[in-house]
Amino acid sequence: MDLSKGAEVCVTGGTGYIASCLIQALLQRGYKVRTTARNPDDRAKTGFLWELPGATERLEIVGAELLEEGTFDEAVHGVHTVFHTACPVVYDPNGDPEVSMLNPALKGNLNVLRACTKSHSIQRVVMTSSCSAIRYDHNRRPEDPPLSESVWSSPEYCRDHKMWYALAKTLAEKEAFEFAAREGLNLVVICPSFVIGPSLTPIPTSTVFLILDLLRGRAQEYPNKRIGFVHIDDVVTAHVLAMEVPEAHGRYICSSDVAHFGDIMSMLKTKYPKLQTPTRCSDMPPGDDIHHKMDTTKIKKLGLTEFKSIEQMFDDMLRSLHEKHLESL
Ligand SMILES: NC(=O)c1ccc[n+]([C@@H]2O[C@H](COP(=O)([O-])OP(=O)(O)OC[C@H]3O[C@@H](n4cnc5c(N)ncnc54)[C@H](OP(=O)(O)O)[C@@H]3O)[C@@H](O)[C@H]2O)c1
Repeated sequence: MDLSKGAEVCVTGGTGYIASCLIQALLQRGYKVRTTARNPDDRAKTGFLWELPGATERLEIVGAELLEEGTFDEAVHGVHTVFHTACPVVYDPNGDPEVSMLNPALKGNLNVLRACTKSHSIQRVVMTSSCSAIRYDHNRRPEDPPLSESVWSSPEYCRDHKMWYALAKTLAEKEAFEFAAREGLNLVVICPSFVIGPSLTPIPTSTVFLILDLLRGRAQEYPNKRIGFVHIDDVVTAHVLAMEVPEAHGRYICSSDVAHFGDIMSMLKTKYPKLQTPTRCSDMPPGDDIHHKMDTTKIKKLGLTEFKSIEQMFDDMLRSLHEKHLESL
């Protein structure tokens, strides 16, 4: 792959938690970055991207909406690699999941991938999927061996447990691999677990928003959820390796340790006694609390040899929230 200095790449959804940190890293490494936003002129959402070192000289922001056919054509034209990260993560649980979650994830995915087939410069597409596309199945048992990239979540399990995000990520990733095989696209997929760490966005989004909600004393309960956690820095490194290592292929689990939210709340309360973390577990039906381990052998071979600890993830996130939002929200 020709990754000469100054090669141009595209990152979809630049206003997002992962995408903005990735853009920062790519600019630091000397790449030219074209990113997308639903409204590039909305300075409240995109202004912080212009403050990143190198942005004035090497960043471009173009408009694109996942549900509008063809809007990514311009964004990906002429670039070397497309990082497709844009996708809703937090959605209204009382709304229609098909409208808020499944449509943007599935139609949006194909919209981006179709755009990639029209630009002959693209050597690789790196898509952000999720461990949610791996770990849910009626047959899963706590004593199972660590889950590897060969395992897929069962759409039936996701539907039965109303896990619309997991369903969307599973279907979207499967469809992406089928599309890529058919159209000859070089697709590499990163599957992060629950991402924690410092954030660049001026307004907390995604998992930062969800955690902040648990720390502000407003939530009465923490979720009955056992999940892998991963530091944002490791997620960014995984995406960069997926582009820069020519042999990268298929999907890569990107996850540090697995823990229950109850363990996280206890850890935070001990370390930061002033935080108003909930002490009661929600009585949401079981299904998201299964003991499991993630097998990270493949990504370690790619070059991400060590994951940051859960403690460091939360220390770094709290420092960042303290600097930016926690006191004011
Ligand atoms: N955070 C995690 O723990 C985690 C874990 C595993 C996988 N992931 C995956 O990583 C990717 C990025 O997640 P994130 O945590 O960075 O989420 P985020 O902060 O909520 O960012 C999502 C991005 O997608 C954009 N987007 C959403 N709907 C869109 C639409 N209809 N048209 C155009 N853009 C749209 C958002 O734009 P607006 O700003 O305009 O809304 C935003 O830029 C997603 O694919 C997510 O599934 C995240």
